[in-house]
Amino acid sequence: MTTPAPVDPTTTSAWADLTTHYQGFRGDLRGWFDNDPDRAERLSFEAGDLFVDLSKNLVTDETLALLVRLAHEVNLPERIEAMFTGERINVTEDRAVLHTALRRAPGTQPPLVVDGQDVDADVAAELDKMSAFADKVRSGEWTGVTGKRVETVVNIGIGGSDLGPVMVYEALAPYRQDGLSVRFVSNIDPTDVAQKTADLDPETTLFIVASKTFGTLETLTNARLARAWLLNALVARGAIKDTEEARRGAVGQHFVAVSTALDKVAAFGIDPANAFGFWDWVGGRYSVDSAIGTSVAVAIGPDRFRELLAGFRAVDEHFRTTPFERNVPALMGLLNVWYTNFLGAQTHAVLPYAQQLHRFAAYLQQLTMESNGKSVRWDGTPVTTQTGEVFWGEPGTNGQHAFYQLIHQGTRLVPADFIAVANPAYPLVDAVGDGGAVQPGSDVHELFLANFFAQTKALAFGKTAEEVRAEGTAEEIVPARVFSGNRPTTSILAPALTPSVVGQLVALYEHVTFTQGVVWGIDSFDQWGVELGKKLALEIAPAVSGDADALAAQDPSTRSLVSRYRSLRRG
Ligand code: F6P
Repeated sequence: MTTPAPVDPTTTSAWADLTTHYQGFRGDLRGWFDNDPDRAERLSFEAGDLFVDLSKNLVTDETLALLVRLAHEVNLPERIEAMFTGERINVTEDRAVLHTALRRAPGTQPPLVVDGQDVDADVAAELDKMSAFADKVRSGEWTGVTGKRVETVVNIGIGGSDLGPVMVYEALAPYRQDGLSVRFVSNIDPTDVAQKTADLDPETTLFIVASKTFGTLETLTNARLARAWLLNALVARGAIKDTEEARRGAVGQHFVAVSTALDKVAAFGIDPANAFGFWDWVGGRYSVDSAIGTSVAVAIGPDRFRELLAGFRAVDEHFRTTPFERNVPALMGLLNVWYTNFLGAQTHAVLPYAQQLHRFAAYLQQLTMESNGKSVRWDGTPVTTQTGEVFWGEPGTNGQHAFYQLIHQGTRLVPADFIAVANPAYPLVDAVGDGGAVQPGSDVHELFLANFFAQTKALAFGKTAEEVRAEGTAEEIVPARVFSGNRPTTSILAPALTPSVVGQLVALYEHVTFTQGVVWGIDSFDQWGVELGKKLALEIAPAVSGDADALAAQDPSTRSLVSRYRSLRRG
């Protein structure tokens, strides 16, 4: 089926009404809560295990009703169905978008068949293959070439083939198997692979080369460097003979791959039997729940990996079936549209009060910005509104001591999502206390979460000049100590950082991103904007290495920079 032309959101009646609504709009969180005791309850929702409080956002019931109407007028319900059923909604690459098929319930009837492919059967088979491999590594049945069990797995990949796995690996640290760790090499800066392999034992190291295309410069370069490191080290210590056959055997035991391009995997020298596949309908930034998550499956085990998938599924089902009035990803996406297109926000902070989510913002940057950083719509016409915000963030109170000043008192509107879990992985108690507010025996997680609750409260309600004066503050510094309030936040609270909850969080933001993309009429699943720089890097490389003709062909600034680099470079 051909994808219909996008609806220009600015031509909808809901947009016109939102524009009128905005003209008289004044955020008044203090007043809204004072006059409406049910606001918190009415604007809090659940998706899976996630409790999501939207009440501290700059919206009234009317704003939300208009946004929900907008979702209908841009055909969000039809677009959701088109995605879940495998229509080719990635128009510019002519592909279906079926990451949700990776986590369908086993045995769902009828099976999902797209373009003649039994998607459910293929997904199940690949998951089983990956699980069997993970079990072998974890049990020690899979060994290196000298018969030693694997102690370190090194995932080599970049973008979606790195950010998802590393984020989930960190988030689920307490579930890792003892004696088996994973490292992640992504950057083509040779420092990355050099540092990550420096202290490794080649006999107990297994590399996973993760690349959807198996054509990514960084990943293939790092894979070659890793292969050379492995073979040289094994030969040097006499672990293998210095023959072609012995080297091939070592690569077979120490390298596996994840890719949609199994022919290229074989060309690299990795046995396709040791390769785990997926399909072009899984976008790189949507792929952590495919075989791209092999490193995670090895670390936490296949059963936990399936729990992760079940978490994704819970939020998929919520997104697909819940009316928009209570649909958390849809509402969060629509709020982002409100902030971006009406209130002029340019960035969005994501602030997990969970140290284990310390890579979550980095992961979300690719998910959201590679998806929605677009200036044309899926039919090639220019967008009619601002699109993708800049997503950023840091975990917990680290951010409070760095950039929260700007969020509290700066001139910019920065909508922020606060994420916390009720039960910590490490329930530590401060036996001593500080002799002041922190009592001996304090639960440190509760101290931590007091900050989570305090920050959204401070941002919402601020502190007036009268309140500052009442504290006895000298008049000349009263203005500096006033907090305007009305700074919007969403609070997301989960029971604990389980595999399921991590899956739920990722699916939540996938669908938030999708919702925004549909409103803006953009193809959230292509990434043409990364191509030009990649191509130019290859063109400039000879100039960097001293080719005079290539240098002469550059623009004056690039020529001057490369020349200066060459004069600075030693050796
Ligand atoms: O940066 C562009 C990109 O294509 C991402 O979308 C993708 O996640 C990344 O490169 C890595 O690609 P691959 O998995 O094919 O190596």
